[in-house]
Amino acid sequence: MNILHIDASASDGETSHTRRLSKELVERLKVAKADATVVYRDLVANQLPHVDMTIRHAWLPENGGDPAFASTLDRSKALVEELKAADVLVIGSPMYNFSVPSTLKAWIDHVAIAGQTFGYTAEGPRGLLSGKAYLLLSSGGVYSQGPFAPNDHLATYLEAILRFLGISDIETIRAEGIAYGPEQDQAAMAQASEQIGAVSVTA
Ligand SMILES: Cc1cc2nc3c(=O)[nH]c(=O)nc-3n(C[C@H](O)[C@H](O)[C@H](O)COP(=O)(O)O)c2cc1C
Repeated sequence: MNILHIDASASDGETSHTRRLSKELVERLKVAKADATVVYRDLVANQLPHVDMTIRHAWLPENGGDPAFASTLDRSKALVEELKAADVLVIGSPMYNFSVPSTLKAWIDHVAIAGQTFGYTAEGPRGLLSGKAYLLLSSGGVYSQGPFAPNDHLATYLEAILRFLGISDIETIRAEGIAYGPEQDQAAMAQASEQIGAVSVTA
């Protein structure tokens, strides 16, 4: 089992909810699968650039072999290969302004490449990836239900883009409402930990 473990919280390992939860899940997978290998990508410590003209042009077939784009293309290809090699994707992500942190969005922009991770057919788009994803999410408010549910562009977005890329087996675990006070914070984290303990490891 090859695990790609991604963190996107701007808080450190001591204080971040999602870093704690994603680590907990990866540890659980490693216990369940002794031969598991883990590639770790910290999108805050090692930030990717926003997609710009160089990155956009690097993938164009007519620019293949152009030394001006070589290092950019190599980095993009390495990110795509890293994702393709993963049987299991683990993403720890806080909600920032109702959606993903921009560091995570930048990674998505680097790996969602037509012809690489998705393709177009006569019937429409088709994801070229497979495997399983675990999303460990946290937010100050509550979005899984209630009046703010329409503002959730974190879980809904991540699930949609992963499905678009072909990863349809997705388990989402949330620690929500952590800004509602220390009791809710602890209860939300305890509930998320419980859910992590209950995941069935099949891959
Ligand atoms: C830049 C920023 C934007 C945030 N935006 C939201 C938001 O839109 N909705 C929300 O409920 N919480 C928001 N929060 C709170 C975080 O989602 C919450 O603290 C979460 O637990 C952080 O996860 P972490 O501890 O892993 O970093 C925001 C926090 C930051 C730093």
